[in-house]
Order: sequence, then C-alpha cells, then structure tokens
Amino acid sequence: MSEIERIGVVGAGQMGAGIAEVCARAGCDVLVVEQGREAMDRGRAAVLGSLDRAEQRGRLSAAGHEDAVARLRFADDLGELADRQLVVEAVTEEELAKCEVIAGIDKVLADPSGIIASNTSSIPIMRLAQATDRPGHVIGLHFFNPVPVMPLVEVIASPTTSPRTRDTVETFVTTTLGKQTIRAADRSGFIVNALLVPYLLGAIRMVETGRATPADVDTGMKAGCAHPMGPLELADLIGLDTVAAIAESMYAEDREPLFAPPPLLRRMVQAGLLGRKTGRGFHGYPTQRVAS
Ligand code: 3HC
Repeated sequence: MSEIERIGVVGAGQMGAGIAEVCARAGCDVLVVEQGREAMDRGRAAVLGSLDRAEQRGRLSAAGHEDAVARLRFADDLGELADRQLVVEAVTEEELAKCEVIAGIDKVLADPSGIIASNTSSIPIMRLAQATDRPGHVIGLHFFNPVPVMPLVEVIASPTTSPRTRDTVETFVTTTLGKQTIRAADRSGFIVNALLVPYLLGAIRMVETGRATPADVDTGMKAGCAHPMGPLELADLIGLDTVAAIAESMYAEDREPLFAPPPLLRRMVQAGLLGRKTGRGFHGYPTQRVAS
C-alpha cells in the first residue's frame, strides 16, 4: 500500500481538477490551491460538477460522492500545503510559471522528504527540479485528459530524482489511484506526446495547406483508423495553447521540424481560439469549458 495520504494539487484547470478528483475518489485527503478566489471557485465548481456527473451516470455511488467531497479542500495560498506528503503541480504549460510555483511549494513543504510532482506535458523535469532545494524529491507525473477516464500516468525521473521517490510515486499511482504507469526518460515530450504531438501538428498542417477540412481530417482518423476522436477534436480538447506550448518545448529541445508549431496554430492561439475551453478551435462548441 502507498504511504501517501495527504495530497496537494496546485492549479485547478482541466488537468488539476481531474487529478484532484481522482485522488479524492481514491480516498486521499486533497487540498487544491489556485491563485485568487475566482480561479479557486472555478476549480471547485469543475471538480464538484464532474463528481455530480459521475454519480448521475452511475459511475460513483451517492456515498462515494459524499466521501470524495468531504476529502476535498480549496485554498488560494500555497502556505496551506505545509503538511502535504505529495504536491502535484498542474499550472499552465510555461516553464517560468511552473518554476515559480515549484519553488514556492518547495519553501512551504515542512517535510524535507515531501515529494513535488509536475504534471508538465513536455518540460524536462531536471529544469523544474533546479528551482528547488530538493531535486531528489522532484519527479514528473504526467496524467492524460480526461483524467478520470484515461488509465495512464507517465512517470519521469530526472537524473537527480532518487529511486525512492520514483518507487513511492509509482506505488501511489498504481495502488492508490489504480492507474497504469510507464517510465519515460527526461526528454521533452516524454513518450506519448513525442508521438502524439507531431501527429496533431500534421493534421493542422493539412488544414493550413488546404489539403482537407477539419471535419474530413477528423472523420478520416475516426472512421478509417478507429480513433475515438479525430486529431483536431483532440487538439481542441487538450487546448490549442497547450498543444502549441508542448510543440515549442519539444522543438526547443530537438530542433526537429516536425515538432515546430505551424503558423496556423500560433495564429489561432493569438486570436484566443483555444478549443473547447473558449468555445471555438478547429470546431465550435456550444458551452464554455473550464480553462487549463
Ligand atoms: N470527465 C470525466 N469523465 C468523462 C469526461 C470528462 N471530461 N469526458 C468523458 N467522460 C466519460 C463519460 O462520462 C463516459 O463514461 P460512462 O460511459 O461511464 O458514463 C466515458 O467517458 C465516455 O464518454 P462519452 O460517452 O461522453 O464520450 P466518448 O465515448 O466520445 O468518450 C472520450 C469521450 C473518453 C474523451 C473519448 O473520446 C476519448 O478517449 N478521446 C481521446 C482522449 C485522448 O486521447 N486523451 C489523451 C489526450 S493527450 C493528453 O492528455 C496529454 C497532454 O499532455 C496533452
């Protein structure tokens, strides 16, 4: 069994909210920290809304719902994380923002062996670990969207992560959360995004060059290859700002032209067409979703 029971999650966008939900449903005491009251309230509404839906669809019992809600707390001050055993950082996919948050978590965690995990999609963990005085206790835990549905978590040990930290989080993810882990090297994009993101960018280039419409690209991959979503629907789900940030990070590391964000993607991000969360990306969406 895992020794970890008290979890912190920093950032309550779609990934942070999903991570908080699965931890609370797995029986952990969860404290979610967001910046400012408004973001905190949005995060709370996202987690509670998802738990409501899970109960309505029969995936969660009424008692399980009540227990999960009782295990969740929300705050807007990192200082509240002092007694946590594991804190998962899930803020926006920007290295500077992540380093600042991780340095802040490092300062407030009372136990020097408390673990800081980043849910980064692409930033090398070693660079995030350097923002702390505990690089041996910093690791990557990369969840997939939607977190309550996707069984996988990538575990990324940097060259300075201790084997004990890796073993502890792997046991937590598999035994407490019931998810499956794979070990990825500390290279930008890890395993899944290094394969997935060039595919998404290729689909965007097809639209950019007029080779196909977004609807036909998506239909092609769903009806032709049995993917649950087409690449442009998936990019809209992930968030086009996040896709662009991952591509930038992978391109910065490898200078591989297939990783370079296409101009159309940059333009859409500049225009605020970020996908589901803003109601429009490659497709239109009727309701506004929670921001990442
Ligand atoms: N939160 C919680 N549960 C959700 C959900 C959400 N946001 N979205 C869907 N679900 C649940 C539904 O409730 C349903 O469960 P149920 O049958 O028990 O009620 C189940 O998932 C299936 O949902 P739907 O019937 O509504 O819709 P679909 O069958 O179309 O499935 C999907 C939706 C699970 C999102 C499916 O389309 C899918 O698997 N898409 C691919 C997702 C994917 O590839 N994710 C990885 C993205 S990459 C990533 O995250 C890495 C990052 O770094 C970029």
